[in-house]
Amino acid sequence: MATDAYTAITMRKYAMNACGDEPSSCRRAHRIACRRIGIVALVTWVATAGAWRGVSAAEARDAAAVAAAADGLGLLLTRAYLPADFDQEVFDDLWTTWEEPLRSRAERLDIDGRRRLAMERYGLLPHPDDPSRSLQYAVDAAGNWTMSCLACHQGQVRGVAIPGVPNSSYALETLTEEVRLVKARQRKAFGHMDMGSLFLPLGTTVGTTNAVIFGMALMRHRDPQLNIVARPPRLDLPHHDMDAPAWWLYRTRRTLYADGFAAKGHRMLMQFLLVKENGPERFREWEDDFRHIEAWIEGLDPPAWSGPLDEALAARGHEVFARHCAECHGTYGAARSYPERVVPIEVIGTDRARLDALTAGERRDLNASWFGDGAGARLAERCEPAGYVAPPLDGVWATAPYLHNGSVPTLWHLLHPSERPLVWRRTPTGYDDERIGLVVESADEMPAERLVPATRRTWFDTRRAGKSAGGHEFVDALDAAEKTAVLEYLKTL
Ligand code: HEC
Ligand code: HEC
Repeated sequence: MATDAYTAITMRKYAMNACGDEPSSCRRAHRIACRRIGIVALVTWVATAGAWRGVSAAEARDAAAVAAAADGLGLLLTRAYLPADFDQEVFDDLWTTWEEPLRSRAERLDIDGRRRLAMERYGLLPHPDDPSRSLQYAVDAAGNWTMSCLACHQGQVRGVAIPGVPNSSYALETLTEEVRLVKARQRKAFGHMDMGSLFLPLGTTVGTTNAVIFGMALMRHRDPQLNIVARPPRLDLPHHDMDAPAWWLYRTRRTLYADGFAAKGHRMLMQFLLVKENGPERFREWEDDFRHIEAWIEGLDPPAWSGPLDEALAARGHEVFARHCAECHGTYGAARSYPERVVPIEVIGTDRARLDALTAGERRDLNASWFGDGAGARLAERCEPAGYVAPPLDGVWATAPYLHNGSVPTLWHLLHPSERPLVWRRTPTGYDDERIGLVVESADEMPAERLVPATRRTWFDTRRAGKSAGGHEFVDALDAAEKTAVLEYLKTL
């Protein structure tokens, strides 16, 4: 059922694509058809959120929990927890800021065509109910758009939106810069993102964001009970971009984040709301909403691989995995286990910017605050992590790019450390069925010509600070045949 809803979203997308730049009669017909599909999709989507949990219905969760989860998705789709980022008029004028030839292409299109191009540029998905707006922003009746959790946590794979798959196309920095330009022209007031991004980089590469540092910068102005306190901003923040993890892993994790220090719970999920407009009382007021949102996240299942699979090869890969990988990543299938092991940085060898970004004191303060909900003492030892947590690998085929900083485009590259591209960029929706992950263009250098910022950010340069694609090299203990087998096995998780 869930897949039906998503298929409907995708059908709508393809219906629109099929129209392309054709006569408006075609587009109109499609639009009506699309809207119908869309409404059904949204209703089904919300109504069947429980059914997604239902894949594990064997566990017979009670009806109230199912209702809470459905409600959680509805809240994510509709409720604005932050001040609005921009209005429809600003969104519809964004194309005027684009570089050529895209700008001229947009100029020739009608409003629907331009909106479609804008969504593609910023990595947004059209809302199934109304393709003029995005699934990842809550839009009110007056047309004000407010970023939601789904901006980073809802993407697509092979052109299909999978619940909880990270948005590896989100161009937050580019969107924010272009919104600011249009607002200046339309003489509109700047919002918190427009201002914030003048001081903090939001994300230097498409698909990754500096989210951890936003949280840290905002937490500096709160006491443990989230009362606002005046402190000068820190100017030496260790900016670095992160790839958001898949939400379906939440139920397996016992602590959160790449370094596994943070208390798991609905309150921890509320850090994203730390803007100064939200006083401490708003957090208490919205706590119940976040119980529902957490229930929805907790109920998500990993997507099943639907491409070609060589079962005999995967079975051999299972054995290799048991010998070389399970001690850190756990076991899957009937005898499920997950150690949530923190692997020392010297052993894992991946980029260390994220590990070094937080001090033990900052980690402790977060757990001891209202967000930690009393977990401070229990997690004290977790606050000095030696490295990164080996994540659960459920649905890993769908979560490219890989590693916590999103530096490795496919699972094949993860298994072949010396072949990882130095500089790469993905195609808009291309999925590589052989190597499992993003279809990429790779290079040894950034392109020589001067690139506009929007284009520069589509390139991932692994030589930059915080962006190393090194590490996890113990996979080289496997021979070529073992690597091929384990790659096949990873599809089945
Ligand atoms: C700007 C992008 C962005 C937004 C918006 C965002 N997140 Fe995240 N989220 C991230 C990143 C990046 C991480 C990884 C942080 C880390 O591991 O250090 C993350 C981590 C998480 C995790 C931890 C998962 C795990 O397995 O460790 C959860 C749960 C989560 N976010 C929920 C939310 C919720 C709920 C919201 C909305 C209230 C939200 N996020 C908004 C980027 C974002
Ligand atoms: C010594 C512990 C350890 C072993 C053994 C290990 N891994 Fe990992 N693995 C990790 C850690 C830690 C990370 C996270 C590193 C990071 O993000 O910086 C990771 C990350 C990954 C990722 C990326 C996950 C993502 O979502 O980005 C994949 C895929 C993976 N490992 C597969 C394997 C396979 C396959 C094997 C066996 C051949 C293996 N690992 C062996 C510790 C280990």
